[in-house]
Amino acid sequence: MNIPFTKPFWGKEEEKAVVQSVRNRHASGDGPQSKLLIENLKKLTGAKYVFPVTSCTHGLELAMLALGIGPGDEVILPSFTMTSTANCVVLRGGTPVFADIEDTYFCIDPVDIEKKITKKTRGIIIVHYAGMGCRMEEITKIAKKHKLFVVEDAAHAIGAIYLGKSLGNWGDIGVYSFHGTKNVACGEGGAVLTNNSDLSKKLEIYRANGTNRNAFLRGKVAKYHWLDVGSSYFLSDMLAAVVNAQLAKLPVINRQRTKVASYYTKNLSFRPLSRNPLRNTLIPGQARDDKETRKSLIALPSIPNGSKPNWHIYALRFFSGEHADIFLQQMRAAGVEVSRHYVPLHSAPAGRKFGKKAGKLPVTDQVYETLVRLPIYPGMKKKELSFIVTSAQKILRSFV
Ligand SMILES: Cc1ncc(COP(=O)(O)O)c(C=O)c1O
Repeated sequence: MNIPFTKPFWGKEEEKAVVQSVRNRHASGDGPQSKLLIENLKKLTGAKYVFPVTSCTHGLELAMLALGIGPGDEVILPSFTMTSTANCVVLRGGTPVFADIEDTYFCIDPVDIEKKITKKTRGIIIVHYAGMGCRMEEITKIAKKHKLFVVEDAAHAIGAIYLGKSLGNWGDIGVYSFHGTKNVACGEGGAVLTNNSDLSKKLEIYRANGTNRNAFLRGKVAKYHWLDVGSSYFLSDMLAAVVNAQLAKLPVINRQRTKVASYYTKNLSFRPLSRNPLRNTLIPGQARDDKETRKSLIALPSIPNGSKPNWHIYALRFFSGEHADIFLQQMRAAGVEVSRHYVPLHSAPAGRKFGKKAGKLPVTDQVYETLVRLPIYPGMKKKELSFIVTSAQKILRSFV
């Protein structure tokens, strides 16, 4: 069998959206489909202001520009993330300060955030890993206490809810990704959200090459001028049309992803394979707390209290890096594309050059060594899922 790691859930609706855009001769940014996308995202998230952009990477750059990050500023962010989360700070001349993540949900650890705050700290960028949800109540409290901004790198998190509120709509600015691998995909794309009217005015200008072009298009000014620095971050209307078609299917996408996750959890969860207590330390188990994670061979994903995830990722945690390696090799040999995740930024050449580690990041290092992602996407066939679980169980049994 050949089972890919991910696949966009595209069909006739997306084809129709592209054809319609071609027929309408409208492919540049801020056309009718972009306007519809803004309304759709406002409705989905409750955010006051939405800006479709070319990617989450560019959205994060735009956020740092609007928040005025510059030389001498420090921004705390997880090391276990994509380079975009840190590059946006470095591109403004600021310093990313790497914080550790939590053992169970792989999101930034609020306790470590507080430890890393200095006089130079301006803000925090958090990553809702797998669409599970960072501890927003605690992070928001810390940010308020120290007068810091919070930017949500919500690349994984569209359609996910935490404590009744959409992830991406908690911070000063939130940024989604519509990259081809994401739950809502158009190839390359993203969106920036805010509820702050001052920030929205800045975002509008920086996104339009530093001009007040949008005010001109709304009939608010007679001509538009170059007012500040900026770049062209407009999402093509053709791609906005694809995102709109995807958003119409979001309930189906999330339902199907949840089904896949439930299948994995049900079929890979705790099953005593032996009465030998020594052997029982190496059986597949569902971790409910950190102590249990260490005791069992694999820990299945746990959902944070109050979180309604979108199952962007289904990540297993292995007892050791060696077990993870063997699992990876044997699953791939069986034709199942499984994958590790981010090489921690603090250990990468650019991370050492541009970032500040400020102490050890033991959980990040451990998670990198032991985390493996299983394929998850809508439209996975029962026989594919059954093959994945059977292949996984076979490898897990060979460990005990
Ligand atoms: C946490 C995180 N942030 C940002 C990005 C960048 O998203 P994009 O490809 O839309 O620029 C990714 C991409 O996978 C990501 O995982």
